[in-house]
Amino acid sequence: MEKRVYLDNAGTTPMVPETMQAMDEAMHQFWGNASATNYFGREARGMLEKARHTMAKSINAKLDSEINITSGGTESDNTAIYQAARARQNVGKHIITTKFEHEAILRPLEDLEKNYGFRVTYLDVDENGQIDLQQLRDALDDETILVSIMTVNNEVGSHLPIHEIGEIVKDSNAWFHTDAVQGYGAVPIDVQADHIDLLSVSAHKINGPKMIGFLYRRDGINFPSLMRGGDQEMKHRPGTENVPAAVAFAKAIEVHFADGQRQKNADHYVALKKRLIQGLDDAHIDYEINGNLTDNMAPQTINIWFKGIRNDALLVNLDLNGIVGAAGSACTAGSLEPSHVLVAMYGDQSPRIHESLRFSLGMTNTKADIDQLVAVLKKVIPEMQAEAQKTIE
Ligand SMILES: Cc1ncc(COP(=O)(O)O)c(C=O)c1O
Repeated sequence: MEKRVYLDNAGTTPMVPETMQAMDEAMHQFWGNASATNYFGREARGMLEKARHTMAKSINAKLDSEINITSGGTESDNTAIYQAARARQNVGKHIITTKFEHEAILRPLEDLEKNYGFRVTYLDVDENGQIDLQQLRDALDDETILVSIMTVNNEVGSHLPIHEIGEIVKDSNAWFHTDAVQGYGAVPIDVQADHIDLLSVSAHKINGPKMIGFLYRRDGINFPSLMRGGDQEMKHRPGTENVPAAVAFAKAIEVHFADGQRQKNADHYVALKKRLIQGLDDAHIDYEINGNLTDNMAPQTINIWFKGIRNDALLVNLDLNGIVGAAGSACTAGSLEPSHVLVAMYGDQSPRIHESLRFSLGMTNTKADIDQLVAVLKKVIPEMQAEAQKTIE
């Protein structure tokens, strides 16, 4: 086998030498308790606040204090949903979201619906992974307290019109939250221009460490912490701050948000996706893209329907041949449930929901990785088809 090829960067990314080195140095130097007033605490606090500033600047937040560091995307999403609901339930109990959000949004909303009397509108998603803005306008009413719509979908990569959504929501009673875990670093985000009130980010999707992220909360939006404990994070999030992880996260931001880097990555990923498509065509593999390949898709993700090929079996065959892809999100992989994202886009009767794989690109991927993927597909797909034929006979 040639080297292993990792094409599941939407699941997680490896830390790169820059972020590992930053974390290592911070573990040696800035291990103090950032909330303590002693020397080591003050040193750690200085680094934490520097990291927070980098996070705030990356989304054009007005104030550093609008950034609450959390344990990652799931905590940021849960906090936004539960705490906005708690803080505003006297104003109304209606929330709008989409059918293809991440589980970190959908599960809290199901809980609010089932156990706390909230009404949730789930906007439809079309075959391009887009919502109908008129359906959003029609769904907003005086009782709507929150709209939560993701920036980029984690399974198919569709990029939602966050700016237009922000414009619509700002004229209503609702706060606008976006789960930007997959969009951050990949597509432009400006919380002020886009009228975003709450935004979730996770470091491990941009070559930073795991279990750290942030929740942006527009100045003036107040709700208590999801957890109860100490007064850290301006009383918004208890628990001793993980300064080395925050420092490494800030380094990951510096790497991804360096001048021209986002466009450079995008051009690289689009070229790799074109190479993959060409390879599939040349190999006469029967496939279709889930979503499309236009500018409405984030550059790093491609989701492919391999017609007539079970995705769980294909995934195992790829893995045995050194290729790591994904069927749906990591949280649902391994379960027999079809992807709720593809069900939302194509319906529960579509063969696509059992025959599709996601490949997601990262900074470390090369043309050779794509060539190796194509070579393996060219080998295993006919083998799987022949095997299936034998079973039928
Ligand atoms: C869109 C989206 N939201 C939230 C999360 C959860 O983030 P974390 O793994 O940092 O908890 C993920 C992770 O896959 C994601 O893709």
